Amino acid sequence: MTLNGKHVFLGVTGGIAAYKCVELLRLFKKAGADVVVAMTRAATRFVGPATFEVLSENPVLLDLWEGSGSGVAHIEVASKSDLAVIAPATANFIGKLAHGIADDALTTTMLAMTCPVLICPSMNTDMYQNIRVQKNLDLLEESGIHILDPDSGVLACKTAGAGRLPEPWFIFDRACALFYKKDLKGKTILVSAGPTVEAIDPVRFLSNHSSGKMGYAIAGAAEKRGARVILVSGPVSLDAPVGVERVSVESCDQMYDAMLGSLGQADIIIKVAAVGDFKPVSVQAHKIKKNGEQDQGHMTLELTQNKDILKAIGLKKRTNQYLVGFAAETRDLETYAKGKMEKKHLDMIAANIVGKSGSGFKADTNKVKLFTRDGLVTDLPLMSKEKVAHAILDAVVQAIS
Ligand code: PMT
Repeated sequence: MTLNGKHVFLGVTGGIAAYKCVELLRLFKKAGADVVVAMTRAATRFVGPATFEVLSENPVLLDLWEGSGSGVAHIEVASKSDLAVIAPATANFIGKLAHGIADDALTTTMLAMTCPVLICPSMNTDMYQNIRVQKNLDLLEESGIHILDPDSGVLACKTAGAGRLPEPWFIFDRACALFYKKDLKGKTILVSAGPTVEAIDPVRFLSNHSSGKMGYAIAGAAEKRGARVILVSGPVSLDAPVGVERVSVESCDQMYDAMLGSLGQADIIIKVAAVGDFKPVSVQAHKIKKNGEQDQGHMTLELTQNKDILKAIGLKKRTNQYLVGFAAETRDLETYAKGKMEKKHLDMIAANIVGKSGSGFKADTNKVKLFTRDGLVTDLPLMSKEKVAHAILDAVVQAIS
């Protein structure tokens, strides 16, 4: 995600995990955000302010009376912020914020903060589970502040349990999710992604070049917009987007079962996977030998047609379910895509030009044209798969609302 033009406020309190926030700051900066760091005095015992100052390219807010001397720097910072993240958040800080206590630069700034706030508690397990800390977290949550549950594991105090600060990439991902409108809240989206793989023998298979990037981008974007997402995925090397329920499959038959099995729960179905149209008539139990029955340098592989998953969904879907298919085409994009929309009973089709550099299989960018049954056409420019994902979701939201 690009955060160009966004102002992020990063509050660091006095916990051993403060060192992880150097990496968190780096992630925000890499995404293009302007970051202002505020530290409590205790935090400076764990990491020196100079580290945050150099990396953020901004003065670190430590004291209300330092700098301009006007004593209002914290108000300026708060009013400029688009997002505030407090990591690690100690029990002391959580207690103070929950009860409106402003006795240092960080807590005073936080009381003036009107943007979305993400608090990442991190402390010893017994402290975290203490009823007073939990009540304070409840109070903050009731006031609209977002709380990121800590991870479980071995803590600095050598005990094991809940209280570890999550990894910086995870905090970054959850913080960025706060920038998105939640226009898919309450919806369940079923997405398929990646290739299918059809075994020929124990070592060989038929497949295609799908990397899963386009489908995973849609799944991740939908989750960030508030949807529950079920992602049925062929074998790819991507991690599942945060918060997405991934069901891993290999063959078309397995994908068929997984998609049809989850269909009843879905409000929106988006079928991005590149499904193999054919599979071998039979899978050999042993590796096919070069010099076996197939002689003279030739062999014939008998194939049979796979199930058409999308068509089956199109026939079974309820009238209140919205179905989107993809069409990967190298030529006559519009004709073939519209034909597939008709044949497979789709509400929308994303016609994807493939075989050109920067678009289709494996690429980080994509060129897609959207068609709906009522004749709407959206010709999207070549752009990142994340942006294409959001544009498709925009079109779906518009169509169903
Ligand atoms: O994964 P990436 O590397 O990011 O690449 C993305 C992509 C190019 C795979 C993706 O953007 C795309 O175009 N996906 C559709 C690929 C495809 O199989 O297209 P198709 O025109 O052959 O199939 C049309 C539709 O029917 C697709 O929604 C497909 O999922 C579905 N289908 C096809 C065959 C079959 N047996 N069952 C199906 O459900």
